[in-house]
Amino acid sequence: MVNSDIVICLFFDFYIAQPAGKFPGRFYSNPTQNIMDQKVNIFDTTLRDGEQVPGCGLNKKEKVIIAKALEKLGVDVIEAGFPISSPGDFESVTAIADSVSDPTVCALSRAVEKDIECAAEALTKAKKPRIHTGLGTSDQHIFTKLRSTREKVLERGVAAVKLAKKYVEDVEFYAEDAGRTDNEYLATIIEAVIAAGATVVNIPDTTGYCLPEEYGQKIKYLVDNVKGIDRVTISTHCHNDLGLATANSIAGVQNGARQIECTINGCGERAGNTSLEEVVMIMRKHRWLPFTTGIQTRQLFPISRLVSETMGMPVQPNKAIVGANAFAHSSGIHQDGVIKNRENYEIIDPHEVGVDESSIVLTARSGRAALNFRIEKLGVEIPDSEKDAVYAKFLELADRIKLVQDDDLKELLQTHLQPSI
Ligand code: KIV
Ligand code: ZN
Repeated sequence: MVNSDIVICLFFDFYIAQPAGKFPGRFYSNPTQNIMDQKVNIFDTTLRDGEQVPGCGLNKKEKVIIAKALEKLGVDVIEAGFPISSPGDFESVTAIADSVSDPTVCALSRAVEKDIECAAEALTKAKKPRIHTGLGTSDQHIFTKLRSTREKVLERGVAAVKLAKKYVEDVEFYAEDAGRTDNEYLATIIEAVIAAGATVVNIPDTTGYCLPEEYGQKIKYLVDNVKGIDRVTISTHCHNDLGLATANSIAGVQNGARQIECTINGCGERAGNTSLEEVVMIMRKHRWLPFTTGIQTRQLFPISRLVSETMGMPVQPNKAIVGANAFAHSSGIHQDGVIKNRENYEIIDPHEVGVDESSIVLTARSGRAALNFRIEKLGVEIPDSEKDAVYAKFLELADRIKLVQDDDLKELLQTHLQPSI
């Protein structure tokens, strides 16, 4: 081995040896932040944006149970609701504010006086209250929704932040539809709300329109062009209309954002919001990304099921991280590989996200290795001379019933091997 090879190997070992999120930014530098300051805050909006799924509304008791589970999960911010929207939502925000102590509790308001006052009242008991206020900043929203002008929208944004500041120190401003907002105007309004006292600036891709590179460049544009941006936290808030919410959120963080707004299971109206479990596991698994979160990842699967059951909204089986099939292997080639070494086909240890174990699913696509593995798990030994016949019977059964469960397998073995088991 020549010297340069040794250097490369040493460096490679060093790179691999870094714990999640601790790689010291050698390939990446964030223009706005100290290299040590790489924590990304997780802002969960399951109880506000997520709960906007038609037919999935939650009552106060259910919301408090989920809020406590979110606290245990380790989120930094819980967006508890939109208090002006209904008396029930007001009460839920009040109850959550009184029930959790570690996370910041945030309430949504439009840039409207009575909304802000209502949000402030609902947050009275919160240990760490935040008001989230804002309005549409794209020309689409300004002209055809708000029927206003850029100048008036800027004035309204500033006035909203100033009013919210009278009630709480921590004020987040959202520039709704920032994804389709002209960057120069976006920078102007963001600079103005920072001067008015905003502590967090949220750059939502409300319609899920942006490409990751475009969204990342938008965040970078703000980092490079907004006076005072280094004093505040930039937040991503991406919707999933084109299936890009997760990718866009990560691009935002790579370009200077330090808060991700997301929901459990990616729930939310239309195609949903950024999925919390996906962004957290991406930052954990890609160790060269210098980002950490405070999330207790073993809680991801339990909270996914809690939210799904409480909302009555099933998780799609192939959902990344928390879907029923996320750690299930059904084709013969994959099963053989996983039985030999789990990492042949899994990049996440299921325990890491609170799943008991990977599963070897028996279907007509399964091979002998999988069948023998499952038979052994049942504690049954079959003579080598019987193995071909058992496999043939298994394939017949699998073609007929599609998924062969333990009970089906036991029955097949009993019938075929009588009276040996
Ligand atoms: O998608 C969005 O723009 C929002 C804002 C209200 C933050 O949910
Ligand atoms: Zn949203």
